[in-house]
Amino acid sequence: MTFLPNSSHARDIASIVHSQTDLNRHLEVGPSIMSSGDGVYVTDSDGRRLIEGVAGLWCASLGFGVERLAEVAYEAMKNIGYYHTYRHTSNEAAIDLAEKLLSIAPVPMSKVLFQCSGSEANDTAIKLVWYYHNAIGKPDKRKIIGRMKGYHGSTAAAVSLSGKPDMHRDFNLPFEPFRHTDFPCYYLEHQDGETEDDFATRMADNLEALILEEGPETVGAFFAEPIMGAGGGIIPPPTYYEKIQAVLKKYDVLLVADEVICGYGRTGNMWGSTTMEMVPDMISSAKQLSAGFQPISALLINEKVFQAMLVESDKLGSFSHGYTYAGHPVAAAVALEVQKIYEEIDVVATVRKSADYLAARLSGLGDHPNIDDVDGRGLLWGMQVVKDRTTRALYDPALGMAQKIGDATRDAGAIVRIIGDRIVLAPPLVISEGELDQLVGALETGLAATAFDG
Ligand SMILES: Cc1ncc(COP(=O)(O)O)c(C=O)c1O
Repeated sequence: MTFLPNSSHARDIASIVHSQTDLNRHLEVGPSIMSSGDGVYVTDSDGRRLIEGVAGLWCASLGFGVERLAEVAYEAMKNIGYYHTYRHTSNEAAIDLAEKLLSIAPVPMSKVLFQCSGSEANDTAIKLVWYYHNAIGKPDKRKIIGRMKGYHGSTAAAVSLSGKPDMHRDFNLPFEPFRHTDFPCYYLEHQDGETEDDFATRMADNLEALILEEGPETVGAFFAEPIMGAGGGIIPPPTYYEKIQAVLKKYDVLLVADEVICGYGRTGNMWGSTTMEMVPDMISSAKQLSAGFQPISALLINEKVFQAMLVESDKLGSFSHGYTYAGHPVAAAVALEVQKIYEEIDVVATVRKSADYLAARLSGLGDHPNIDDVDGRGLLWGMQVVKDRTTRALYDPALGMAQKIGDATRDAGAIVRIIGDRIVLAPPLVISEGELDQLVGALETGLAATAFDG
């Protein structure tokens, strides 16, 4: 493709490196430039209006272009614009927001640490796992366990925790203390004759075996997204977390819930931990915290972790950690307003109602010979593209079958997320029934337009 020398496309190619992008292909095809957004739609620079079936990167919970949030940001910028939260300094918006988050936490939480991204929230949590164990006199509990296909961010530590070999390769990662246990996808990973409960038992047994092999005195924490997002919209079986948490308890291993996608209503409860019955020691959250309108993340920690931090701070003279933009007054004000909107619209009830509608609408897809495992909670749904439903045989990845469906769905007017051979939907939480019809209709059109004979 050739672009006019001064076009935005040509200037993008000449100036920006894009994440998760085939860099050579980008030099040829350039970007798709999003110019504006309204409600659940985004419009590109060619004037194409698309329904956003994944809320951007699972974050635009209130859709796009929200004037009320713009006004709050404007006022906060006019009022002060920036200040930090180092060395005993604070601001009203950060205080209000922290209080609000503690009041809605799924289990009792004691304090909030602010950062700018989900990766940083998880990085902070990783550091606190180490800090905690040093404080309680168990410095050897340094190893941290994530799961294959789990995703916790792109910073060097958060990606080490992630079970994504493609994101480690040639970056000299993962760092040494990170380990990965099984991908808890019953559909793809269960053995013949294994029930969901048997599968959950095997997952927990394997985790226990890993802890024993490493030495329980060296294992400090286990991180899990309640429902896996970037792993493909994966919901572990009902007894999975009960069995996993029993193992963690047995070996005194902290549980960190990565709620970066699940938090703030996505799964039909305020927190994925509630949906999946998890009792975490720390919770990392971002994305829908501010509806994606400001880069802000919040790590919630329980009293046990905070008490240990007091010990370390006392020993060292200070809690020597921080980010220039932590508790940023504009980001905090916008996130606080987002939380007020969630309260006003009763976001959990809103999501549950839409979830029932979406579930009914998606049930028809289960008749398609190449779509299986259509499953979700709230407004987070995944489905598997298969060559053969009876044998669960998959297509050769080189065929890019799911991507073909994604491209055809986009041609039909909707953006869905393709992850390997899975299709994921996570639309804005304010999506209407008519818009859900349009989203699923585009996916149906995309499926009908795709040749499955590969
Ligand atoms: C579960 C989860 N954790 C962490 C992250 C990283 O967040 P960020 O991209 O804001 O650093 C993501 C991003 O998609 C995520 O899905």
